[in-house]
Amino acid sequence: MKPHRSAPVTALHGIARVPGDKSISHRALMFGALAVGRSTVTGLLEGEDVLRTAGALRAYGANVERVETATGPEWRIDGVGVGGLSEPADVIDMGNTGTGVRLLMGLAATHPITTFFTGDASLRRRPMARVTDPLSLMGARFTAREGGRLPLAVTGATTATAIEYTLPVASAQVKSAILLAGLNARYDTTVIEPEPTRDHTENFLRAYGATVKIENLARGGRAITLTGQPELRPQTVVVPGDPSSAAFPVVAALLVPGAEVLVENVGINPLRTGLFDTLREMGADITYRNRREAGGEPVADLLVKHGSLRGVVVPPERAPSMIDEYPVLAVAAAFASGRTEMRGLGELRVKESDRIAMMAKGLKACGVKVEELPDGLIVEGGRPAGGARVETEMDHRIAMSFLVMGLATREPVGIDDAAMIDTSFPGFIALMNSLGARIDPA
Ligand code: S3P
Repeated sequence: MKPHRSAPVTALHGIARVPGDKSISHRALMFGALAVGRSTVTGLLEGEDVLRTAGALRAYGANVERVETATGPEWRIDGVGVGGLSEPADVIDMGNTGTGVRLLMGLAATHPITTFFTGDASLRRRPMARVTDPLSLMGARFTAREGGRLPLAVTGATTATAIEYTLPVASAQVKSAILLAGLNARYDTTVIEPEPTRDHTENFLRAYGATVKIENLARGGRAITLTGQPELRPQTVVVPGDPSSAAFPVVAALLVPGAEVLVENVGINPLRTGLFDTLREMGADITYRNRREAGGEPVADLLVKHGSLRGVVVPPERAPSMIDEYPVLAVAAAFASGRTEMRGLGELRVKESDRIAMMAKGLKACGVKVEELPDGLIVEGGRPAGGARVETEMDHRIAMSFLVMGLATREPVGIDDAAMIDTSFPGFIALMNSLGARIDPA
């Protein structure tokens, strides 16, 4: 355990560069491993989660290498081709990464090999039936713990069945697991999502040369159809900065009086920017500068200035585009005038921790009035006292959210463990301190 403490500061200034996008980084490695030939990736998030995916792909027979070049690290992946994964010789431990394990289950499900997956205490608590159910329909066989949890074994189908599947929950992980499985199924696999979720997998499929058809349905839904057994062509991928990581310096800059921070090179795919939209509705001064494209994704530099925020009702249908950002939004809401209502967040209960419960508990400990709903939070804003030590339950985003909070409360805020931050945002504490934060071991 690495307990830390964040103390109130009077200024936050400078330029920040956040690490590569986690969702895109996992996919960049996986697509590289499935292509025929060598892909290169720059800007990859070198956090624990993504490194677990790299390790797993090596166990499946892909050559994954990190090379230091004059312009920074480059990852080179020699792919084995769709259908070419070999059976891992040992159990694959995916650590804390839900995205990594669920997407890899998709790959494994349509290769005739057996994989044993496990993970850390947080990952072993998380539901897996949401992926094992559809992948079973495609012909994979799973043996899992009670409730479909890790550790589990999967034996992939020899001849996979293409399916049409309607997602019961809005989840890019489930969508992606099925599409990745569909790569090695004959004929067409269709995933119907009632609400649009991040589309990085679809973007990768197209960029690597697969045939994907996307049909817009009523009320924002989509039907995504993939033609199976393509030959994927290797690519050069540039990973943009992660908007879900940018969220922390952005909210910090909004809360610390007089702050002005430029967060460079942030991905602004509209299926990821719900937090920035919401903060602007709360009155935040956030400007997108120098909009451009990097690696097929829209990117901008975010200029953020301190200012007062007002409470809002966050539309529940926005949840998929900011699902990982509610913890830090709840922190911002604690400093706003009036109440902020967040609903439609049932999924937050099955993230790295039960984020609804953890935020409610931590905010209350810091003197904030919060109501916990089955699928949401209502936060009464003000000037929170802080002065508490908050539990994080192995959840990197809970840890970072409360360290951001402590920069603007009356008293410092402590967290029981900062170790998990490295899963998604290595260098978070050094970066925040370089802007003027005071986050230290406690
Ligand atoms: C992710 C999808 C989301 C998100 C996670 C990353 C992805 O999970 O919370 O951090 O890369 O596909 P769900 O699909 O479970 O909502």
